Amino acid sequence: VEQSIKSLLLENIRSIEDFPKPGIVFKDITPLLNETYLLELTSMLLAKPFRGQKIDHVAGLESRGFLFGTNLAQDLHAGFIPIRKPGKLPAETEEVNYELEYGTDSLEIHSDAIKTGAKVLIHDDLIATGGSAKAATDLVKKLGGEIVGYSFVMEISALEGCKKLESIAPCHCLLSV
Ligand code: PRP
Ligand code: MG
Repeated sequence: VEQSIKSLLLENIRSIEDFPKPGIVFKDITPLLNETYLLELTSMLLAKPFRGQKIDHVAGLESRGFLFGTNLAQDLHAGFIPIRKPGKLPAETEEVNYELEYGTDSLEIHSDAIKTGAKVLIHDDLIATGGSAKAATDLVKKLGGEIVGYSFVMEISALEGCKKLESIAPCHCLLSV
């Protein structure tokens, strides 16, 4: 049953060629949000691997990691923490810089978002190289949090992003493309 639900979800991920740049095929998850049954099925399967675990916070990555992130946090009886692009969070923040294919980028978290030893699950819509998830990991650790897992709606399996993270905590990707 789970396999057929996953096939259904996969069929509803839309590929858009040459977005945002020529040569890139964008994987669009908005159809999974659009219909209540797809939203519920996706949410249910995202939470499944972590049910019954002690998780204090789900940390979601701006912006598409916000879409299912809060929902996942509520489902797991955890709080939600936004990890945002620079200059968006209003209070005091910690920042990490990370390498992109060309240049660098950075992410921020509110300095008081995590108490020492709190258990944190990192969530995003998609893992490609794993660079963003690794940067989020560094932010959570900087604040004394413990990473207990990773949750993604989708992985680009050819890029093997989860390999970067598996030595830190279990990495669950609902769908593979
Ligand atoms: C995309 C995607 C992930 C990240 C994955 O976000 O939503 O957050 O890239 O790439 P990585 O594993 O190679 O780091 P994007 O930067 O396009 O921003 P958005 O979510 O705000 O659209
Ligand atoms: Mg993103």
